[in-house]
Amino acid sequence: MEETKTVLIAGGSGLIGKQLTKVFKERGYRVYKLSRNARKQGHIQWDPKTKQVDEKYFSRIHVLINLAGANIGDKNWSASRKQELIDSRVQSTEFLSELAAKMPKLSYYVGASGVNCYELGQNKVFQETDEYGTDFLSTLVHDWEKAHDRFEGICPYMKLRIAMVLSNRGGSLTAMKRPVFFGLGSPLGSGNQYHPWIHIDDLCRMIVFGIDQQLEGTFNAVADCDTNRTMMKGIAKYMHRPFFLPPVPSGILKFILGERSMLVLSDLRVSNDKIKNTGFEFKLDKLNKALKALFAK
Ligand SMILES: NC(=O)c1ccc[n+]([C@@H]2O[C@H](COP(=O)([O-])OP(=O)(O)OC[C@H]3O[C@@H](n4cnc5c(N)ncnc54)[C@H](OP(=O)(O)O)[C@@H]3O)[C@@H](O)[C@H]2O)c1
Repeated sequence: MEETKTVLIAGGSGLIGKQLTKVFKERGYRVYKLSRNARKQGHIQWDPKTKQVDEKYFSRIHVLINLAGANIGDKNWSASRKQELIDSRVQSTEFLSELAAKMPKLSYYVGASGVNCYELGQNKVFQETDEYGTDFLSTLVHDWEKAHDRFEGICPYMKLRIAMVLSNRGGSLTAMKRPVFFGLGSPLGSGNQYHPWIHIDDLCRMIVFGIDQQLEGTFNAVADCDTNRTMMKGIAKYMHRPFFLPPVPSGILKFILGERSMLVLSDLRVSNDKIKNTGFEFKLDKLNKALKALFAK
């Protein structure tokens, strides 16, 4: 009898991990998740800070997916929060690379990364070969990806530079829907800044595709890039809410959000040519299509 394919997802209790779990289960995989708070069946307790983990099922793992990390958008970026954002990714990844030695069947690794890693203000469409930027998030991504590279020589692996994930179960779309719901939808800043995005279903398909094709290297996980105005207006349209208010000035957003305001104010366009050249096909590659699918559910 063929052995059940088994995947272990670190940080699998979050937005992407939950959807990915469903996708893997539909494909007949057995799924375990590493969580700092393992209460449900299939969750395995770990603490990457103190390097503690329950290794019971490690001998079964074929694929390891690393989504662990404190949420980037949740809290203000104080000095201690910044350290937590870094440590929760870099230390967790380094710990996972040590744990890989205890997974004799491990044949593939996927490391999450972020698209906010390029030098802003260059008015260009970034490719994976472009240099890292120098701002906080770029430095974080650089360190995080260096940690993923510890899997070199352990098994084939890919690093996914994930764009803003559009899902109706949380994340950025939920945050953008809030003011729109109250009839307060408007562009943020100039509204002309581009945001790279990806529908959660396409992201999950891309991860599965990477595993099936044993892709290796760094890939921008981006379906398309649209301006903040286009995105906010699109959301208002599907929520049947007005969209006429003037833009929220950048100064106000900087005052409220501090350095974190770069998440909504920075202008970033990123290419998806590399992943498409591997044969991967997006199903929801236009904003209108993606929002329609999200609001239909
Ligand atoms: N969603 C997006 O738009 C987006 C975009 C770009 C990149 N990404 C990256 O993709 C990964 C997954 O995203 P997501 O949206 O699913 O994130 P999420 O919902 O915030 O979930 C991340 C998971 O990481 C674990 N975690 C949180 N704090 C941690 C800490 N201090 N140490 C170790 N683990 C910790 C949590 O699991 P437990 O509490 O169970 O331990 C949590 O469920 C993240 O690393 C994120 O930065 C996401």
